[in-house]
Amino acid sequence: VNVARTKFVCGNWKMHKTVAESVALVKELAAGLGAAAGKVQVAVAPPFTAIHAVAQALAGSAVEVSGQDVFWEVQGAFTGELSAGMLAEAGCKHGIVGHSERRQFFGETDETVNKKTAALLKAGLAPIVCVGELLAEREAGKTLAVVDRQVRQGLAGLTAEQMGKITIAYEPVWAIGTGKTATTAQAQEVHAAIRKILRELGGAVADAMRIQYGGSVKPDNARELMSQPDVDGALVGGASLKAPDFLAIVKGALP
Ligand code: 13P
Repeated sequence: VNVARTKFVCGNWKMHKTVAESVALVKELAAGLGAAAGKVQVAVAPPFTAIHAVAQALAGSAVEVSGQDVFWEVQGAFTGELSAGMLAEAGCKHGIVGHSERRQFFGETDETVNKKTAALLKAGLAPIVCVGELLAEREAGKTLAVVDRQVRQGLAGLTAEQMGKITIAYEPVWAIGTGKTATTAQAQEVHAAIRKILRELGGAVADAMRIQYGGSVKPDNARELMSQPDVDGALVGGASLKAPDFLAIVKGALP
């Protein structure tokens, strides 16, 4: 089945940018979308401190806002955490979960990814669920097994309708922040495998779900990566911190 999926490009700013810098950056983004406005779905994930100001600065523009993480409880004594409802109120439409940096440094597991994904959906936010293998796992030939486990456990218990609201981000950990990008063939192979799993889990909805590639996406490789049949956009780290680079990547998603 060949379904036209709108390409989706999200900038994950990680722990970068003050409030003032964040607002200045998104104003440049909103002003520079040009032909991509309305044709490519675009979002940014600022640090939590800047989310509200960024959402206000982007009101009326085509650029959407995402959280970088979320906690699964609605409220309570969970020092340092934020709920999906709080993200929504601050202006988010999306929430990233399962990023490899959360898995590596902050104890994120497939089980917490699953709880966070469900919490985002319940609050009306669209989850971006990150998966991806470590270098040692790729070298041991375990890439597809790792991604299979992360997708199945991350999405466990969801209905097909809920799955339809989710974006998967395939981010091979060895490509993140390293300047080493997966080849288009490597990306397409894993993306196609992910879509097959999504089809097993949710049926036809899999054809409408976006699978982003992440890991050293730059203006000069974005177009080729996103031209692959199962690469439906990008989750961009470093290159999303500069408006001209991020805008060039977004425009690389245009036909
Ligand atoms: P880089 O684009 O800096 O490699 O980061 C990718 C990433 O982790 C996006 O979530």
